[in-house]
Parts: sequence; structure tokens; C-alpha cells
Amino acid sequence: MSVLFPPTTHLPPIAKIASFSITQLLDALTYLQSLYYPEVRGSHRKRVQAPVFNGEQNSRLPHEDDNELQVIRSDAFERSYSIRWLIALIAQLEVWQDLSHSRDASLDDLGKLEPIFTHTEMIVQQAASLLAICAGVAAAGIFTRNFVFGSIDGHRRVEAQLTDIPLDNDDYGSVGAQTWGGACVLAEMIVEDPERFGLDFSSDDPKSRRLNVLELGAGTGLVSLVVMKLLDTLPSFNHREVSVVATDFHPSVLANLRSNVNANVPSMHDQITSTHSIITHFLDWSSFSTAPRPDCLSYPFDVVFGADIIYEAQHAVWIRDCLKGLLRRPSDSIRSPAAFHLVIPLRPTHTFESSTVESVFLKAPDVDPNDDADLVILSKESITCDAHGDYTRGQGLDEDVEYLYYKIGWSNARL
Ligand SMILES: C[S@@+](CC[C@H](N)C(=O)[O-])C[C@H]1O[C@@H](n2cnc3c(N)ncnc32)[C@H](O)[C@@H]1O
Repeated sequence: MSVLFPPTTHLPPIAKIASFSITQLLDALTYLQSLYYPEVRGSHRKRVQAPVFNGEQNSRLPHEDDNELQVIRSDAFERSYSIRWLIALIAQLEVWQDLSHSRDASLDDLGKLEPIFTHTEMIVQQAASLLAICAGVAAAGIFTRNFVFGSIDGHRRVEAQLTDIPLDNDDYGSVGAQTWGGACVLAEMIVEDPERFGLDFSSDDPKSRRLNVLELGAGTGLVSLVVMKLLDTLPSFNHREVSVVATDFHPSVLANLRSNVNANVPSMHDQITSTHSIITHFLDWSSFSTAPRPDCLSYPFDVVFGADIIYEAQHAVWIRDCLKGLLRRPSDSIRSPAAFHLVIPLRPTHTFESSTVESVFLKAPDVDPNDDADLVILSKESITCDAHGDYTRGQGLDEDVEYLYYKIGWSNARL
């Protein structure tokens, strides 16, 4: 467990900021970011309740530093010191920037200032963004988070770096510009137990065909990227072709999704021999059945993911229609039956929308196996997370966030 220090004791003193090197100040800024950058709200699984039916038990990874972190974050004095420190840092950077353009700068000064020539904009932007967060401005602008997921036994570890872009308040459709708790919960569960999600086929024929993975409403792309990076590390996928297709429909969300994919797997495009690929593509659930199908969506998918994608009355119906055309049918499946894994938050404001999952998809035991194949709920599980996250928006730290995890598949598939 790492020890956390309050900003007042850990940061270079404000009055002496000019005497520290740019590297020391950058380290201090990074430390401050780790304290104050909001986590994704509701992304820490607290306990996993007994499955409603057919699910498997699971347990959460410990987050031992949480209490210490919350104490520092909620300390108004520490926060106000951090704000003043950031203001002093930005002012000092400006002084150095001016000096670097000045003819009077000595060689000694120029040596010290060299890192500033290339990174001033970025450092000022990061400091200003953190300043906005500490000052309580919700729309802090673009910022990048590092996500780390690991298995309980420590054998698997996946990291991803994702950039959120500001929510456009005039455009409700831009919700996917930020990473939501449901994606974190799903990504964590996948890394803990890939087999549960059809992502480990140690018993299958190693020469079997490509694994096709699809994400609907991918937003910033966390789930797709974590799946891709996880499969890169699993020995059973060393020589197996894998295709991950991350989809969304909103133009700015898609642009950010592309940029996140490129930032995390930049070398993929150059690796002609690589058997694993990830691409992003436009897919609007509402027009899926009528719109022409691009090549990358014309093959059946073995595993489909969806995180926090049911929040309007029609969503469940549209998604069922997409799945009917995209989820591999059991008759031509040679490995574990294809499945759609869905995690939704139970928002008090959206109880009707959440309930549509269970009116659109029947539960497997309620369906006559002799009827025509239909998409059914194979299992359902409740997940509770600490809210934590965005304390700057005045959300209660004590509140829990509830999620439901549904596994949905064809009613006539072998289990
Ligand atoms: C609440 S966000 C969740 C994003 C991401 N899965 C996550 O959990 O961070 C919902 C996502 O669904 C996408 N979405 C909403 N309606 C859609 C539609 N009709 N077709 C495709 N994507 C849609 C949004 O653009 C957004 O990215």
C-alpha cells in the first residue's frame, strides 16, 4: 500500500518554487493530479451480491488507499494550498517562458529552461485543468486518465490511457465523450475473469477461426481497448486472429474514440504480421436494420459488449435488433456460444429505461426451448460500487452506485 502525503508537506514550497528544477515541478504536478483528478464516478466495485440466477460469484480488488485519499481530497485547507501552488506554478512557467525568449538569458538559464521550450503549452494546460478541478469547475476541459486493471492473482494486468473531452451541454448526444462507471466495472470484470466473457479458449483448437469482438456505444473506448490489450497478453491468443470493432454514432465521440485507440495501440497499423486488430466504426443502433452494412460489420460476432448504453426508452429494442443481425448464431458456432455482455447503472432518474432490458429480453427459463431461437437473458447479477468519483460536482461520497450485469445470448445455444 503506498503512503499518501498532503500537498502542504509534499509540494515544493510556494515561496521557493523558482529554485526547483522543471523536472521536480513536473513530478509535483503529477502527484497533485493523482490526488485530485476525479475518478470515474461509481467505478469501484464494492461487493458482488448473490446472482439473481445462473451467474457466478466474484469479488472486488481492494482499493486500500481510498480512505486516505478521500481525507486529503475533502480537506479544504489542502485544496486551497493546492490551488495557490498551481497558480504560482503557472506564473513561474510564464516567467521562464519569457526568459527563454529574452536575449539576456545566460547559458546556465537556457540549459535549465530547455525542457520548457518544448512542453510549456502542455504543462500550463495540465496545471490549468487541475486548477479548474480543484476550484470546483466541473467542465475542467480535456484530460487524460490512466486506467489499470488486474486479476486478483496478479497474473493479468492491463493499462489504458484514455482522454475525455468536455461534455457539450447543448448536445445531449455527446455523453460518450467521457468514460462512465459502467465501462470501468465491465473492464475490471473482464480482466479478472476473461473466460467468463468467452475470451479464453484454452481448450479450443488453436487453429480455429478468428475471434470477432464488437462494442456498441463504445464512448471513449475503454472496454474495447482493455479487451484488445488483454487478448494481446493471453497465450491462447498468440497465434489466433482477433478483430475488435469499437462502434459509436456521435461524430465528436467517434473522433475521440479513434484518437484514444491510436494513442493506445499506435503500432498496430504498422504491424502487418499482427494477428490482432482494433478498429473504430460508425454504428447507429436506430438505423442498423435499414442502413447498408460496411464490411467490418458484416461478419457475425462472438462476443459483444455494451456499457451504460440503455438510458432512453427505445435503446433496448434497437440494441436487440442490432444483436439479431450481429451476434453469431449457435448453429455455426464452434466454440463457446456467442454472448452479449451488458452493464447498466441503475440511475434513480432512469428506472423505466433500465427496466426495458427485462421487457425486451425474456429470461432464459421463461422461454420454451422448442420455440424459434430468440435473444434471452442467460444471467443477471447486481454490482454495487462506492460512488467516490466526481466530488467536485457535490455528489455525496457516501452514496452507492448500483449496476446490473446481464449476459444475453441465443435461447437455443448450448450452455
Ligand atoms: C453513457 S455513454 C457510455 C459510453 C461508454 N460505453 C462508457 O461506458 O463509458 C452511451 C454511449 O452510447 C452511444 N449511443 C447513444 N445512442 C446511440 C445510438 N443510437 N447508436 C450508437 N451509439 C449510441 C453514445 O454516443 C455514448 O457513447
